[in-house]
Amino acid sequence: MPPSPSELAYVPFVSVENMMGLVHQIGIEKVLCDLADAIEADFKRWELFDKTPRVASHSAVGVIELMPTSDGEMYGFKYVNGHPKNTKEGLQTVTAFGLLADVDTGYPKLLSEMTVLTALRTAASSAMAARHLAPKGARIMAMIGNGAQSEFQCLAFKAICGIDTVRLYDIDRSATVRCSANLKRHGLTIVSCTSGQEAMEGAEIITTCTADKQNATILTDNMVGIGVHINAIGGDCPGKTELHRDILLRSEIFVEYPPQTRIEGEIQQLADDHPVTELWEVISGKAKGRTDAKQITLFDSVGFAIEDFSALRYVLSAIKGTPWFSNLDMVADPDDPRDLFGMFERANQ
Ligand SMILES: NC(=O)c1ccc[n+]([C@@H]2O[C@H](COP(=O)([O-])OP(=O)(O)OC[C@H]3O[C@@H](n4cnc5c(N)ncnc54)[C@H](O)[C@@H]3O)[C@@H](O)[C@H]2O)c1
Repeated sequence: MPPSPSELAYVPFVSVENMMGLVHQIGIEKVLCDLADAIEADFKRWELFDKTPRVASHSAVGVIELMPTSDGEMYGFKYVNGHPKNTKEGLQTVTAFGLLADVDTGYPKLLSEMTVLTALRTAASSAMAARHLAPKGARIMAMIGNGAQSEFQCLAFKAICGIDTVRLYDIDRSATVRCSANLKRHGLTIVSCTSGQEAMEGAEIITTCTADKQNATILTDNMVGIGVHINAIGGDCPGKTELHRDILLRSEIFVEYPPQTRIEGEIQQLADDHPVTELWEVISGKAKGRTDAKQITLFDSVGFAIEDFSALRYVLSAIKGTPWFSNLDMVADPDDPRDLFGMFERANQ
């Protein structure tokens, strides 16, 4: 029998099952609020993070991306894909997992599923941005695109921004039916709509969260009235946008990390020097958010590595003392650090 791995070999691993157990135990709305606060706190220390546009590998049908960052103490990355055709094959559009490591030793400290966690962190980031940008007292949100992310978005806007009504629309009616049924127990007034235009009625916040491997026009200029906040989630790849360019020209645009958003976001439709404001500057008081009630504010979200880093750190702290993880034998730990081969040989005795 080869010797059992030492304590140093083990890395806590959060499976999909355990992530769901953890979130249910804490309560999804509390988790969304905690994540929003964690992401906001990290956006306040934005300048000390390593930042790079994510590394994307495109194919004709989708994209696979790596999203790394570090605050100097911890290093993190997420693996994530985006394949809009997947749902027709019974697969998800987006799946993800991620890792946190200790910068001092390079040893991994957490490996986690991030498919559920990405939906939570995206929703929390969206609502956190809206907390700074949306019209005061907004109660009604239009939710265009009722796929995997949609219920998470609706619950985050309820818990973090006080939204009480969601107006749902999807080109696939069955997606709206499912989203509406899933949200039934969660204390929102739900209105199912038969067109994007109908979903807009009375909406102070508009979330677009559709998936297509091409430039789409989910919102046309005439659909967007003055004073609304647009939370545009689905345009997040070169050649994949959701808003008509004219809307961008009427909006104050807020982004996560311009070098990435100019490649992937709605603003890929605009000149490279079109003015945008970085969300972290609004959060740290260096730039203004919404300045008047008539302004159209647009959060052109593509998803940035720091949001995943914040989410992973939150999970690492939340699992302590709980049963919601298992230990993976992930790091080789020979008694003599230079005798890796000796350890390998003994495993065959
Ligand atoms: N910004 C971010 O941080 C972030 C994070 C996660 C996902 N995303 C993006 O969000 C999008 C949605 O992700 P998902 O996992 O919910 O995808 P999904 O495939 O589960 O759902 C997308 C929904 O959009 C609907 N749709 C497509 N075209 C439409 C149209 N013209 N009008 C109305 N509805 C339409 C589809 O029928 C589907 O129900 C994807 O594009 C994904 O890449 C962004």
